[in-house]
Amino acid sequence: MAFHPWLIVIITLVSFKTFFLFNNALRNAGFDENYAVNWGNQHVLFLNQGREVQLSLDSSSGAGFQSKEYFASGYFQMRIKLPDKDSAGVVTAFYLYTDVNTHDELDFEFLGNRPGKPIALQTNVFTNGVGGREQKTNLWFDPTADFHYYKLLWNQQQIVFFVDDIPIRVFKNNINKGVGYPTGTMRVMVSLWDGSNWATDGGRSKANYSNAPFQAHFQDFNIDGCPSTPTSPNKECYSTKYSWNEKEYWQLNSNQLKAYENVRKKYMTYDYCADRKRYPTPPPECIG
Ligand SMILES: *[C@@H]1O[C@H](CO)[C@@H](O)[C@H](O)[C@H]1NC(C)=O
Repeated sequence: MAFHPWLIVIITLVSFKTFFLFNNALRNAGFDENYAVNWGNQHVLFLNQGREVQLSLDSSSGAGFQSKEYFASGYFQMRIKLPDKDSAGVVTAFYLYTDVNTHDELDFEFLGNRPGKPIALQTNVFTNGVGGREQKTNLWFDPTADFHYYKLLWNQQQIVFFVDDIPIRVFKNNINKGVGYPTGTMRVMVSLWDGSNWATDGGRSKANYSNAPFQAHFQDFNIDGCPSTPTSPNKECYSTKYSWNEKEYWQLNSNQLKAYENVRKKYMTYDYCADRKRYPTPPPECIG
């Protein structure tokens, strides 16, 4: 029996479909593909064939991991479930960082709390070694009960911090106003550590180690970033070869803007831009 030409077309289409499905499965990266433990080896546990990682903090150590590569742009994400019960003083961090030519850093820092009190999400932006740009947001869900996505968009127009798909912070490229902006490369970092001296109630609520170990869980080790040599950004990283550099990612769309304004109004508890004691003259990026 000869194959009818249409049958060959159909078989070809089916195999393409299979190929793309398979490719999607491949995108479910295991930890080792993109990340490596950089401290506290004894406090890292791999679960579910490397699809989930648990970091623990006890009185001897915390732990952390970092991306193998440096990146010059991207839309980075991590699924995180925070330590539950009494986590006062305990800091879980997901951030982009470099100290190669300069210190740039984009932080998600979750500040643990006593049971029943809200865990604050603190974000910060360091450019050319200058930080002091803290904002704090209470989350509208219990971040210890389930995994949620935390994401960082970084292109040469803007940096956006997202909780699930809701933008909670925007840092625009205002280099023309003399404001620093990360124009080099950064790597992705994750850590769990003791911030007792500052994190909760200004350092008054310290980690209570009779409740240790504190455990944070992480999933999704794909990295949507443009890899680069660490010392100078690969120019390709600014091109529309990468979707996050396209025009629709240069500013929030109207739905995102609505969600952003709503979250800031209802859940933001601190904004350095509004702290006149600390900054009698608001920093330039806060104006306009
Ligand atoms: C630490 O936690 C233990 C066990 O939950 C509790 O009995 C103790 O009072 C706590 N200590 C402080 C200083 O909160």
